[in-house]
Amino acid sequence: MRKTTLTDQYIRLKNGFRLAYYDSGSAAGHLKTVVLLHGFCGSSAYWADLLPQLKEVARVVVPDLRAHGVSEPQNGQVYEMESFAADILELLDHLELKQAALIGHSMGGYIALAALEKYPQRLNGLALLHSTALADSDAAKDNRDKAVQTIKQEGIRPFIDNLVPKLFAPLHLEEMPELVQHVKAIGYETSSQGAAAAALGMKARPDRTALLRNAAVPVLLAAGAQDQIVPIDSTLHTAEGQPKVYTHIAEGAGHMGMLEAADSIAEAVQRFIGVL
Ligand code: MLT
Repeated sequence: MRKTTLTDQYIRLKNGFRLAYYDSGSAAGHLKTVVLLHGFCGSSAYWADLLPQLKEVARVVVPDLRAHGVSEPQNGQVYEMESFAADILELLDHLELKQAALIGHSMGGYIALAALEKYPQRLNGLALLHSTALADSDAAKDNRDKAVQTIKQEGIRPFIDNLVPKLFAPLHLEEMPELVQHVKAIGYETSSQGAAAAALGMKARPDRTALLRNAAVPVLLAAGAQDQIVPIDSTLHTAEGQPKVYTHIAEGAGHMGMLEAADSIAEAVQRFIGVL
C-alpha cells in the first residue's frame, strides 16, 4: 500500500502552523539541493517514484505544502502563491540552505515562480513540470470560482473524485486504476478550507512569463504529451530564445508525469540537476 505522505519531520512556521517535510539529508555529501513542490490537492507522495533516482545526485527536500498531506492549513481565504513560497523560504532557512533548485509540479511550479520573483538569490535552478508561467484565462478564473463553490458545498471528496480522472492520460486512466486511486487518497487528505484558498490563490497569480524568460538560473520545462490540465504549449511557450532552458516531453503522460512516466521525468530532472 502506497503512503499518502513521504514526510517524517516538521517545522513550526513563525505563524505557529506545522509544515511537514522529508529531507534526504546532507550525510550523502551532495553539493546540490533540490526542493520538490507538489501540485494542488497533492502531497510529497507525488514524488515517491522519483526519489530513489534523485537522491543519487542531490540532497532532496520534499514538503507537504500548507493544508496538504499532513501539513496544517493556515488562516486566510486566499493562499497567494507568494504565501506558499514564504513557507518554503522558512523551510530553507530552518535547514540552513542558502540556495536550492525548486522543482515544481503544476501549482508547485506557480509557487516556484513566485519564489524566483521574491527571493531570486535563494534559487540556483527552477523546473516547471506540467506547469506554466501564464496566468489563468478568464474561463479558468470562472472555473476556480466553481471549484471553490463545489468544495464549500460538497466537501473535498466529491471534488477530488471529479478532478483526479482528468489528471491522467485517457489510456493510463484505464491501465493504472491503482495509481488513480492512490492520487485520490492523497487528495482526500487536503483540507477543504485550504483547497478553496489555494484555488483562489492560483486564480490571483500574475503572468510570470517575463520573469521566466529573464531567469538568470537554469530552467527545465517538462510537459506531458497528453496533459489535459496544462497543455504542452502553455509549459513550453517561454522556451524559445531563453539561454539556459532545457525542455522535455514525457510521451504518453497526462498531467502526472512523476507517476505516469516516472522514469522519463526522473531522467530529465536528474540531467537537469547535472547542469546546476
Ligand atoms: C495542479 O495540479 O496543481 C493544478 O491542476 C494546477 C491548476 O489547476 O492550474
